[in-house]
Amino acid sequence: MKVVIVGSGYVGLVSGACFSALGHSVVCVDSNEQKIETLKAGGVPIYEPGLGALIKTNIEQNRLAFSCDLEGAMKGADFVFIAVGTPTRQGGSEADLTSVYSVASAIALTADDGIIIVTKSTVPVGTGEALEGIVRAARPDLVFAVVSNPEFLKEGSAIEDFMKPDRVVVGCDLPWAGEKMKALYEPLRAMGVTILHTGRNAAEVIKYAANAFLAIKISFINEIADFCEAVGADVAEVADGLGKDKRIGRAFLNPGPGYGGSCFPKDTLALLATAQSHAVNLRVVESSISANDARKRGMGNRVVRALGQSVRGKTIAVLGLTFKANTDDMREAPSLDIVTSLQRLGARVRVYDPKGMEQARQYLRDVDYTADPYQCATGADGIVVATEWKEFEHLDFVRLAALTKHAAIVDLRNILDVRKVEAAGFELHRIGSPRREKASVQQQTPRRLAVKADYYDESAQPN
Ligand code: UDX
Repeated sequence: MKVVIVGSGYVGLVSGACFSALGHSVVCVDSNEQKIETLKAGGVPIYEPGLGALIKTNIEQNRLAFSCDLEGAMKGADFVFIAVGTPTRQGGSEADLTSVYSVASAIALTADDGIIIVTKSTVPVGTGEALEGIVRAARPDLVFAVVSNPEFLKEGSAIEDFMKPDRVVVGCDLPWAGEKMKALYEPLRAMGVTILHTGRNAAEVIKYAANAFLAIKISFINEIADFCEAVGADVAEVADGLGKDKRIGRAFLNPGPGYGGSCFPKDTLALLATAQSHAVNLRVVESSISANDARKRGMGNRVVRALGQSVRGKTIAVLGLTFKANTDDMREAPSLDIVTSLQRLGARVRVYDPKGMEQARQYLRDVDYTADPYQCATGADGIVVATEWKEFEHLDFVRLAALTKHAAIVDLRNILDVRKVEAAGFELHRIGSPRREKASVQQQTPRRLAVKADYYDESAQPN
C-alpha cells in the first residue's frame, strides 16, 4: 500500500520508517527543505535509538523516500497521514491547529478518489469533523474518509512502541475506510497486536485521556513521594506494592522532578481547554497540571534544602538536562526550572548531558557546559542528577568524589546505587526516601523528625 506522511517530526519520521519496515511504500513529506535534504543524505534530525538504521535500510530497499513535493507524493496514495505539530497556541492553552488545517487544504487539492486522510497528530476532539469540512468544501465530489489513528509512542523507545504497541486505535465512522485501515495494520495484527476500532471522536479523546491519565499517575506518585519523605517510608517500596495491584499497574509510578516533554504538559492543557469550551470541569486533570508546575518550580529549593541552607556562591553540577533519558529533547524539561532557580538563588551552575547539550544551548543562559560528568563535577559543592541516563548509574564515584568539594548528591530520579555512592564518601539524597542519618544522630533524634528536616517545602522562600 502507498502511504504518504506529512510532517517529518518525531511522530511522522518514526511512523514513516516503521510503516516502510512493515512492507508499505512510504513517502515522508515536509516543507522544510533542509530537513528533507538531511534525511535524503542519510542523516536523522532527531536523536532516537535505532531510527537512523531503520531509515537507511528502508531507503536502500526502495520502500522509503523523502520529498518536499506533496503533489508528487500523493500520486497513487492510499493513505495520507497528517503528522505535523499541534503546539500550544501562543498566549492560550488550546492546541494550535494551523498546520493541521493548512496540510488538510493542500491534501484536498491533490488527493485522488478513495484517499484515506489519517490524523496521527494529537488533535482535539472534533478535529476530524473539521478536516472533513475543509476537504469537502474544496472538493465536493471527492470520495475520501478522515480517520483518527493516534500515536502512543514514547521518545527514546519510539520504534519498539510503534512495532509492539499495547493497542492500535483506529477511529473511523465509515466501514470501507475501517477495512482499509485494518489492511494497513495487518502486519502488526498478525504479530498479535490488538487493533481497536472506535468512533472517530472516541479515538481523538482516547489520545488525550491516555496522556492525561499517565500525567496524573506521575503527579500522584510525586505527591506520595513527598509524603513518604515526611513519614519515613520508601516510595519505591510503596510503588512496588501499589503496582502489584493489576488495577493500578507499576508503570509510570516513578517519582521525579515532574513530567516534561512535548506531550504531557501540552496535551493536558489542551484537554482542559477543550473541556472548558464544552463547559466541562476536569478538576483532576487541572490538579495534575498545577501540581506538576509547582513541583518543577520547587525542585531548585528541594536541591538547596538537601545541600544545606544556601547555594549562594556555590557551584552546582547538574547531570542530565533532557526531559528524560534516551532523547536529545529539552522541551519542558524539569532541568530548565532547576537550573534557573539555582541560578536565582545565587549558584554557579555547570551542566552535562549525553545527548542534549546542543538543544540545551537554546534554552539555558550563563551555565558552564562541560564535556563529561567528571569535568562537570570538578570543584562542585553539590551534584544534581536530573535525568535518568544509564551512564550516570555507572560513574566511578570514587573518582567523582575526589574531584568535588565534599559534595552531596541529589538524585532526583532515584537511579544511583545508594551503597556504592555512600561508600565513595558522598551524602546521597533521593526522592521519597527516608533520610539516612548517621547512627549517632539516629539514636538521638526521633526518625520522623530527622526525615522532616529534609522534607521539601514548596512554599519555602528562596534564601
Ligand atoms: C508520552 C507518552 O508516554 C506517549 O504515549 C505519548 O505518545 C507522548 O507522550 P514521552 O513524552 O515521549 O511520551 O515520554 P514519557 O516516557 O511518557 O515521559 C514523559 C515525562 O514523564 C518525562 O518527563 C518522564 O521523565 C516523566 N515520567 C515518566 C516520570 O516522571 N515518571 C514515570 O514513572 C514516567
